[in-house]
Amino acid sequence: MLLTEIDHVAIAVADLEAAIDFYQRAFGATVTHREVVESDGVEEALLRVADSYVQLLTPTRPDSPVAKTLDKRGEGLHHVGYRVADCAEALEAMKAAGAIAIDEAPRPGSRGTTVAFIHPKSAYGTLIELVQE
Ligand code: CO
Repeated sequence: MLLTEIDHVAIAVADLEAAIDFYQRAFGATVTHREVVESDGVEEALLRVADSYVQLLTPTRPDSPVAKTLDKRGEGLHHVGYRVADCAEALEAMKAAGAIAIDEAPRPGSRGTTVAFIHPKSAYGTLIELVQE
């Protein structure tokens, strides 16, 4: 089994502050990590849940992929991050199983991770992010 943990569940939101406030009021959640990922055009806030995270995600510019998702589908579940020991190995295994890679090779993600995305059309409608810590 290549998956070691659910790393994060990512939820696209229009207003990051409002979403953080909601999670704080509803669950007493606090922000563990916050980061702007310029290359992806997103700002994210991570709320720790045991050894996983809820990742609230908002676009930083109108042409970012998350902005397009918000326009098309509105707010909601955006992707699931699966934690793996070796991102390159997991990416090759997924390709061998017929999945379409969005990232042909692992690349830097937020909080110093190494990541690769898999196209939802090839993975039962779920945008998958492989996350190596
Ligand atoms: Co993610």
